[in-house]
This record gives sequence, structure tokens and C-alpha cells, in this order.
Amino acid sequence: MEVLLRLNPDVAPETHAGLAVGRGSSKFGMTETELTGAVSRLPSDGPVRARGIHLHVGSQLGAVDAWRDALRRGLALLALVGAGRDGFDTFDVGGGFPVGDPGSVPPPERFAREIGPLLEALPAERRPARLAVEPGRFLVARSGWLVASVLHVRARADAERTIVLDAGMTELVRPALYGARHAIVALTSLGRRWDGADGTAGATTPARVDGPVCESTDTFDHHELPEVRRGDLVAIADAGAYAASMAMTYNGRPRPPQVLLEPDGTLTLGRRRGADR
Ligand SMILES: Cc1ncc(COP(=O)(O)O)c(C=O)c1O
Repeated sequence: MEVLLRLNPDVAPETHAGLAVGRGSSKFGMTETELTGAVSRLPSDGPVRARGIHLHVGSQLGAVDAWRDALRRGLALLALVGAGRDGFDTFDVGGGFPVGDPGSVPPPERFAREIGPLLEALPAERRPARLAVEPGRFLVARSGWLVASVLHVRARADAERTIVLDAGMTELVRPALYGARHAIVALTSLGRRWDGADGTAGATTPARVDGPVCESTDTFDHHELPEVRRGDLVAIADAGAYAASMAMTYNGRPRPPQVLLEPDGTLTLGRRRGADR
């Protein structure tokens, strides 16, 4: 079996602290010394063969600088270790390509542009023969929406408007776990279809949007939403990665159904409410 050994690149990833796995203090990956030692203990003709280096700087990277630093370190180490070892030739740059509004986050092409100059700075014989990438959420995050209905609206005169949904940290744990932000749009307002995009809908105002679970961190933070009442529907964006896959049944909450939107516009039931998988 061929394996890649994970390097902790000891960089300062531009992301939430909870996602910054490439920091020196993070639990992930080996130091350069540890990794070099691990490779030397793996015989090149044994059942487990070291094929190269893997790293993952962090998720939802807001800039490319830490990624570039990590790649530079990883490539230098690969060349150093690979110089004395046949077949140690693969470099895996991990994921981290963020999902967000265009212009607000660097697109994958921006990350890719960093690779060429780093490779060209190395003599040809020290470059990796194979590159790998783990694009993660970038492929699927935007393919899923979590649809929730309004359970309750609290509008006290002396406090902000609070909207409590019937979906929360049990269906989408990222906001409660590490402060991730997901856009929320209204599908209905006061029982009628709401389409903020066409400009004909009523005004929106800020509201704090909370989940229903008995934990203070069960909140989606603040969003601009129209007037809503119990039963109105909202959609929470970018729920196609780390949402259903991280969902739980805490507090005895059954898993929500999954519905697939087919290319022809029809809906297919993918999973029933409460089903395990
Ligand atoms: C080792 C590894 N590679 C790739 C990824 C994918 O990264 P992303 O968060 O951008 O989906 C992750 C995500 O946690 C990871 O742990």
C-alpha cells in the first residue's frame, strides 16, 4: 500500500481558528523532523510504502498566502526526502478552496496560479512527479440547501427581532461548532412566495436567526429577512458539504428528509424523515 505522510506546515491560515489545521499548534500532521524520521523507518520495498507528502492548510481559506507558504515548505521537504529515496514523488496540496459570493473569496484558479512559480523555482529533478488535490467542499457545498420553517418570531420593543427556525445545529452544526456563516434567504413572507431578487418584494430588516435546540450556540447569527411569521419558509445556503454528513439526532431530533431536484425540475425523495442514512 502506498501512503502520503501528512506534514504540519506550521503556517498562519487565513480562516476561522477552528478550521486552521495547518497551524503549528494544531493536532494535525507531523513536523518536518517527525516526517523525515517516519519515512526513514518505512522500507521502500515493505507492505506500506511512503509515496510522498500531503498537507491541508485549512478550510475556507480567505487568502492564498498561508497556502503558498505551506506549499513552499512541503515542496522543499519532498525534494529533500525524495533525493535519497526512489518513488517518493507525490505532493498533495489538500483542500481549503472557499465557498462564498464571487469576489469575496479567492477562487480555485487563484490558488492554482501559485503552483507554477513554486515548481519553476525548483530544479526539474526536484519537482514532484505527481500532484494531488482534495477539493472538498468546493465541489458540493453549493449543491445543497437546508429548508426550514419559522417556529416563532420574537419582536420585543426593546430588543432585536429574533426568528426561531425548526432547523438548527442538529441539521447544520457548522455555525454552532466554529462560527461558520451561511446565507439565509426567505422563500415565503407572511404566507406568500417571496422573491427578493426581482425587487418587487417588501423591505428586509435585520434579524437574529436561531435554531430550536436548547444550546445558546444554536444560532445562525444575523441576516436580512422580510417580515415572517410561524410557518414561513427560509432556505439556508451552502448546505451541500458538512451539513447532512455531520448531522446528528441530539435531543431526539429525527433527521430531516432529503429531496433531490432533478435536472428536469422534478423532485425525488432521496431519504425519508428519520431514516439513518
Ligand atoms: C485532510 C483534508 N483534506 C481536504 C479537506 C477538504 O477541505 P475543505 O474544507 O475545503 O472541504 C479536508 C477537510 O476537512 C481535510 O481534512
